[in-house]
Amino acid sequence: TLGPAPASTPAAAPLHRPRRLRRTPQLRRLTAETQVNANNLIQPLFLREGITEPRPIPSMPGVYQHTRDSLRKAAAEAVAAGVGGVMLFGIPKDKDERGSGAVDPDGILQTALRDVTAEVGDATVVIGDINLDEYTTHGHTGVLGADGDVDNDASVLLYAEAAVVQADAGAHIVAPSGMMDGQVRHIRAALDQAGHHNVAILGYSAKYASHFYGPFRDAVESSLQGNRRTYQQYPGNIRESLREVDLDLAEGADMVMVKPALAYLDIVRLIADRVDVPVSAYQVSGEYSMIEAAAERGWIDRDGTIVESLTAIHRAGASQIITYWATEFAPRVGR
Ligand code: PBG
Repeated sequence: TLGPAPASTPAAAPLHRPRRLRRTPQLRRLTAETQVNANNLIQPLFLREGITEPRPIPSMPGVYQHTRDSLRKAAAEAVAAGVGGVMLFGIPKDKDERGSGAVDPDGILQTALRDVTAEVGDATVVIGDINLDEYTTHGHTGVLGADGDVDNDASVLLYAEAAVVQADAGAHIVAPSGMMDGQVRHIRAALDQAGHHNVAILGYSAKYASHFYGPFRDAVESSLQGNRRTYQQYPGNIRESLREVDLDLAEGADMVMVKPALAYLDIVRLIADRVDVPVSAYQVSGEYSMIEAAAERGWIDRDGTIVESLTAIHRAGASQIITYWATEFAPRVGR
C-alpha cells in the first residue's frame, strides 16, 4: 500500500528508516520495549557450615560459600543494591542417607534464614530452597528406596517438613527444587497446618536435567554420582513443561519457574503467555561461569554480555530473574 517514491527521491533511498529511532541514546531509551528492573532480580547466597573464612567457589569466580558473618554482609549488600529477593542455600558439614540436615530446625539453611531475616528484616524477600541434595550422601534430591531409585512419596514428606522449619526460620517464600511429583501439594498442606498460610511457594516447575548446573554442584559440594534424569526433564521437551506448570498451579504454587534460563527462553515465553502468576527464570551457575570464563579470557565484554543476557531473559517473559549477578548489576540494569 505504499505509493511510488516521490520523483525527487534518489532511487537507492529506503522507503522506511527504522534507524531514525535508534539515532540517539535518548531515542533508544524512549523506545525501549523491555528493561530489567532491579526489583525483579534475586540473588542466590550460600552458607557453608563450619568455616571461618568465606570460601571462593573455583568454578564460579566471584561467588562464595559464606560464613554466618559474611552471609549477613552479603544480604545487607544485596538489599543496599536494591535486589528484589535473596535465595538461600545451605551446605552442611555432614551428610547422611536421609538428608536430615534439611529438616533439622537448627540445620544450616534454617540458620541462614534466621540470620538473614535478623539482618535485613523485611527489606527484601527471603527465599529458601527446598531440597535434600545438599544434605544426602548420595547427592540425590530425595531419599532412596530399596530399589536404589528416589522414593518420590517419602521424599515429598521430608520436603513438607523442610518447608515448615524454613517458614519457622523466617522464609517469606519456599522454593521446592527437587522435581518430585506432588511436592507442592504436600508443602502447601504442611505450611497451612503449621499456621504459615502466608508463606508463598515458588515452584521450580519446569526444571530440566541440565549440564548447566555443573558449577553449582561444586558450590554445594554435591556428592552426586550419575544424573537426575528420572526426575528432571529432558531438554528436548516442551509439552512436559506445560504439564508440570499446570500441576504445580493446581497444587497451590504461587509462582512458577523455568530453569535454566538462556537455553530455555522458548519455554519461558510459552509459560509466560499461558499462566497468570509470576514466571521466574533461573540463570544458573553454568550460564554464569561461561560468561565469566569467556570475559576473563578477553573474548567477550563482560558487563555488556551480562546485561544483554538479563535483558533477553526478561524479554522472553520472566518477571523475576534469579542470577548470581543480582547484587552487582541491580544498580546498573535498566539504565
Ligand atoms: C537443587 C538445585 C540445583 C540448582 C538449584 N537448586 C542443582 C540441581 O538440581 O542439580 C542449580 C542452580 C545452578 O546451577 O545455579 N538443590
